[in-house]
Amino acid sequence: MTILVTGGAGYIGSHTVLTLLEAGYGVVVLDNLCNASLESLRRVERMAGRELAFVKGDVCDQACLDAIFAEWEITAVIHLAGLKAVEESVQQPLDYYGNNVGGSLTLYQAMRSAGVHRLVFSSSATVYGAEAPVPYREDFPRGVPSSAYGASKAMVEQMLEELCSVENAWSVVMLRYFNPIGAHASGQIGEDPRGFPNNLMPYIAQVAAGRRETLSIFGDDYPTVDGTCERDYLHVMDLAEGHVVAMKHLDRTGIQCYNLGTGRPVSVLQMVSRFIAVNGVDVPYLMAPRRAGDLPAFWADPTKAWNELGWRARRCLDSMVRDTWRWQQLNPDGYP
Ligand code: WQD
Repeated sequence: MTILVTGGAGYIGSHTVLTLLEAGYGVVVLDNLCNASLESLRRVERMAGRELAFVKGDVCDQACLDAIFAEWEITAVIHLAGLKAVEESVQQPLDYYGNNVGGSLTLYQAMRSAGVHRLVFSSSATVYGAEAPVPYREDFPRGVPSSAYGASKAMVEQMLEELCSVENAWSVVMLRYFNPIGAHASGQIGEDPRGFPNNLMPYIAQVAAGRRETLSIFGDDYPTVDGTCERDYLHVMDLAEGHVVAMKHLDRTGIQCYNLGTGRPVSVLQMVSRFIAVNGVDVPYLMAPRRAGDLPAFWADPTKAWNELGWRARRCLDSMVRDTWRWQQLNPDGYP
């Protein structure tokens, strides 16, 4: 069983590839390394004690994809490759539609030409949109996404639903991520954002390590437990394991989507407090104006993944912040 993982050198990709190798799968990684380091894959191989195949390339490159399907007997594809910075997507919509929608279209056409019809797609909780009640449930209609990033994920979901409605050879699972954080407990692999971290957890870690002076908390006047935004943070290893479990359910044809979240909201202030308490560090912060596009609070109803896949997030908040800090301490400047 050989799995093609697009974007497999990235944060979620490297943790997912490690889980696949440890589960005995053969793995081919396609990554253009625009937001990832090859070092992550070298470490994954050492940790798993097994090799993988790596192809430097882009999911928008049809010839590259055709060559991969000709070279390896791919049994399923886990499609993670894509751009994912919400704020950036507002400023650069064409890049996001080109990569996330165009790349998906090219990949699925190459899969069909190669007779490969088993796919796990990396989707996002952002497809629910701003109006959806919480907790989010998979039977909710997709909402009006607040960014090109969210819209691109919603478009690919719709493309896959329409494809599966007319071509019954396909077996597709779409995973709607909530907020993945943390790192493998060894501290060998983790989140290594290029430049200025957009997301909360890497920013907290870099402030704790002294790489950044203070954390700005964007907004303390939201209708939430303490005025700061609430999110459903899950451990990246739980997320990785969710991909392997989802892949095992590709035997049934058709299409399904699943929330990957804990079902437990955590506020920004609660996250900062846990990080300080668990790791015994200081994280200076100041209150700043709200960030455009942020929703006050959203979290998952995770029961469908548990009922149908037997998957649930098992790692607690303390291990998320502890594993983040271990990665940060062992890799102060990320991957070499
Ligand atoms: C969380 C909270 C910020 C940074 C992200 C991705 C999205 C999706 C889920 C995949 C918000 C606050 C942040 C900072 C802060 N990923 N914050 N100071 O926006 O929920 O979504 O993960 O699908 O693509 O954007 O996560 O970590 O950016 O923000 O106060 O320096 O932390 O305002 O309330 P978000 P985030």
